[in-house]
Amino acid sequence: MSIKLRTEIPGPHSCELMAARQHHVPRGPFHVTPIFAKSAKNSMIEDVDGNLLLDFASGIGVNNVGHCHEAVVAAVRNQAQNFMHVAFNVTPYENYIALCKRLNALTPGDFPKKTFLANSGAEAVENAIKLARAYTKKQAVVCFDHAFHGRTYMAMTLTSKAKPYKIDFGPFNPEVFRTPFPYPYRWPGNGASAQPVMDQQAVDEQCFAAFKDLVINRITPGDCAAVIVEPVLGEGGFIPMSRNFAGMLRDFCTENKIVLIADEIQSGFGRTGSLFACEALDLVPDLMTMAKGLGGGMPISAVTGRADIMDAACEGGIGGTFGGSPVSCAAALAVCDLFENGDLLKGARRLGFRIQETLLAWEKKYAAIGNVRGLGTMMGFELVKDRTTKEPWADGAKHLTKFCYERGLIIMTAGTYGNVVRLLMPLTISDDELNEGFEILEAGLEFIKL
Ligand SMILES: Cc1ncc(COP(=O)(O)O)c(C=O)c1O
Repeated sequence: MSIKLRTEIPGPHSCELMAARQHHVPRGPFHVTPIFAKSAKNSMIEDVDGNLLLDFASGIGVNNVGHCHEAVVAAVRNQAQNFMHVAFNVTPYENYIALCKRLNALTPGDFPKKTFLANSGAEAVENAIKLARAYTKKQAVVCFDHAFHGRTYMAMTLTSKAKPYKIDFGPFNPEVFRTPFPYPYRWPGNGASAQPVMDQQAVDEQCFAAFKDLVINRITPGDCAAVIVEPVLGEGGFIPMSRNFAGMLRDFCTENKIVLIADEIQSGFGRTGSLFACEALDLVPDLMTMAKGLGGGMPISAVTGRADIMDAACEGGIGGTFGGSPVSCAAALAVCDLFENGDLLKGARRLGFRIQETLLAWEKKYAAIGNVRGLGTMMGFELVKDRTTKEPWADGAKHLTKFCYERGLIIMTAGTYGNVVRLLMPLTISDDELNEGFEILEAGLEFIKL
């Protein structure tokens, strides 16, 4: 047993801290759990009351190599002893270059590439759009339904879900257009039936027709700078794009000189069983955004892509005080090293099969599970009140989350309707820990049973 609960969850010290939090921190930042962390190692988090909880959230898909991996900690410690900040824009340093070189080699695409480093996922998205516009000298950007790209103004504009991400924050950026993402389970033609009437390919074709109509008739390719897409929707509910749809998008963007940006901020760094989800989809984007798993727990993000696009901004046109911090670069290089020999990815693929097998078995057993889907370990399931009407069951997902953390398992929800349970455990989780987590999750499914 890895989970050890010494108090009720939340314990007294966490409750005290939550009261202080309510007093000193605005209500905007949301918490999945009411416990406060004290330390963490691999898949386990110790809270301030001495409880040990199993982490199926990885800090929103960040700790892919586990919490505080010793190689990452050593790299951080070593770099912090030398220097922590000089600003790449003032006095450049070597590990920034080393990381860019590494990402240029690791990302898909057999062409000259360059990389720019920033702090957060949203910042990478902002910079990718700036570069695409500067390169194409065009303005319109196409994004997808159910997309999540971050919380800064352009990233928020590109994000689909209004509440809580956009409500009260308008006006949004101009020249952003949204088109349907192929989501067969809730595709309108599939109506309220347990089995999709239209298969993935039929939905892909309808979505692609809508996309083409938007770009050709309502924007015009001559005004369209970029298309940004998550190869697997993250916050949108773990919905993978098909190879077929990825191929159609790729061809259309190439033919029309539109920059295709793959947002791999959540799907990258082994989460889907390959280093990037694009590899499974045979998709070579022009630009890729990365963050989360890249830093192994340290804040860092990157835009990598075609050298000529990356060079489109004038000198000084992109940058920032902290972007590509030397300490974060050291951590990210350690993460790249950890992925290098392929064992982590092999383990991730095995983990992905285990998760898939378990979720599919639960789908047969529990009527509340309407749809199981994902890619690699990036798997989730949709809770519904009724399999025929498919009415989303967000309260069910909330009850399940609470049931789990009260028993020492941290899980997260997702989806436009808040009814998707997504699994984001570290890829380094042990079999015993995985089983222990699944036992609690299944007990939770029994508990909330319709
Ligand atoms: C696909 C995707 N893009 C962008 C972001 C924004 O990243 P950040 O929260 O680091 O700004 C996220 C965060 O969840 C994400 O999942």
